[in-house]
Amino acid sequence: MKIKVLVAYASRYGSTQEVAEAIAAALRESGLEADLEPMRKVEALEEYTAVVLGAPIYMSRWHKDARAFLSRHREALTERPVAVFALGPFHDKEEEWKEVRAQLDKELAKFPWLTPIAIEIFGGKFDPEKLRFPDNLIARLPASPLHKMPAIDVRDWTAVRAWANKLAAQLQPAFPQ
Ligand SMILES: Cc1cc2nc3c(=O)[nH]c(=O)nc-3n(C[C@H](O)[C@H](O)[C@H](O)COP(=O)(O)O)c2cc1C
Repeated sequence: MKIKVLVAYASRYGSTQEVAEAIAAALRESGLEADLEPMRKVEALEEYTAVVLGAPIYMSRWHKDARAFLSRHREALTERPVAVFALGPFHDKEEEWKEVRAQLDKELAKFPWLTPIAIEIFGGKFDPEKLRFPDNLIARLPASPLHKMPAIDVRDWTAVRAWANKLAAQLQPAFPQ
């Protein structure tokens, strides 16, 4: 039986979805089966050997669909390997990445039954022209770190693919085919 992985994502503006797509593609290239679904559409996990969960950080919180997904699928998630990623910082400042990792860890700590086999942060994408309410208002506040910030995309596709390849290598010996 082939290893079948669900890559489930939450995304407001599509950048996390694109990372989830790249992860699913890399898993397939490694010989695994991989389905890609928005978290809110996933009803059952029974057919999956493992689950990859990806969602952006907004206002220091992991996207609410991710938190809801963890609550909804608690039982199934305790029975299979789970890997987690988040999108976040816009700059390559080490401090910023550490802070975002701490934000994600804090969110995950609310689900103490969850023991991910991998946790990773990939950089984020920001386009002020695409922001919808209320993000567009937040970005206009002079006190906001997004105030007058130009469009930027620091997602590291090499790191994304490397993470997915490592994940495939972790899963393959755990579920010999
Ligand atoms: C209003 C707003 C608030 C954000 N808050 C955070 C934050 O607290 N921490 C962080 O690391 N990134 C933050 N980000 C960056 C997002 O995580 C990043 O833009 C990500 O790529 C968005 O993913 P999406 O396109 O899938 O929605 C914020 C972005 C916006 C627009």
